[in-house]
Amino acid sequence: MEVKIQAADRSVEIGIRPFTMADYEAVWQLWEICHIHPGPQDRQEEVRKKLQRDPDLFLVAEANDIVMGAVMGAWDGRNGWIYNHAVDPRSRRLRLGSRLLEELEKRLKAKGAIRIRLLVEQGNFDGQSFYEINGYKEVEEIVMSRWLNAEKGEKKGV
Ligand SMILES: CC(C)(COP(=O)(O)OP(=O)(O)OC[C@H]1O[C@@H](n2cnc3c(N)ncnc32)[C@H](O)[C@@H]1OP(=O)(O)O)[C@@H](O)C(=O)NCCC(=O)NCCS
Repeated sequence: MEVKIQAADRSVEIGIRPFTMADYEAVWQLWEICHIHPGPQDRQEEVRKKLQRDPDLFLVAEANDIVMGAVMGAWDGRNGWIYNHAVDPRSRRLRLGSRLLEELEKRLKAKGAIRIRLLVEQGNFDGQSFYEINGYKEVEEIVMSRWLNAEKGEKKGV
């Protein structure tokens, strides 16, 4: 899985491996700088729940103990899902985003997924272009969501 790529003026080994809770703070920071807008569903206790279900589908790209990218996948038995896909702005256009996507697609396919779905925020044209280049098509659907703990004030995000 280790691939040597040239990053700026230095070459670094960037590996892709499953996320562990030790990565949590670095990944949270990555989401924030990438404007992923982590929400209540991304808090530590929620991520722990997610890891109990499919730990092999949450991947990070790392070089020299530095997390440079991450993607969270999920398999619900019907669709594969992609969430919070992010690459550090200093490490973009090096195919890291594509490598994370390819590895996740491979893992979802191995679980039996025949379709992958994902959400791109309105106005995120760069994100949309990236997925289109990687074979994804926009579908005309309205996304609806409900917070099951809304009485506790959890109303932000989708
Ligand atoms: C989307 C994202 C993960 C792509 O990561 P990346 O490592 O830079 O992507 P890659 O290097 O694998 O790009 C592969 C190809 O996708 C296309 N692409 C990537 N970024 C693009 C952009 N900003 N605009 C247009 N096309 C883009 C290009 O065709 C690129 O190939 P090229 O560099 O040879 O032209 C990264 O830009 C990111 O973290 N964005 C902010 C968060 C986000 O929008 N996430 C997705 C929705 S949740």
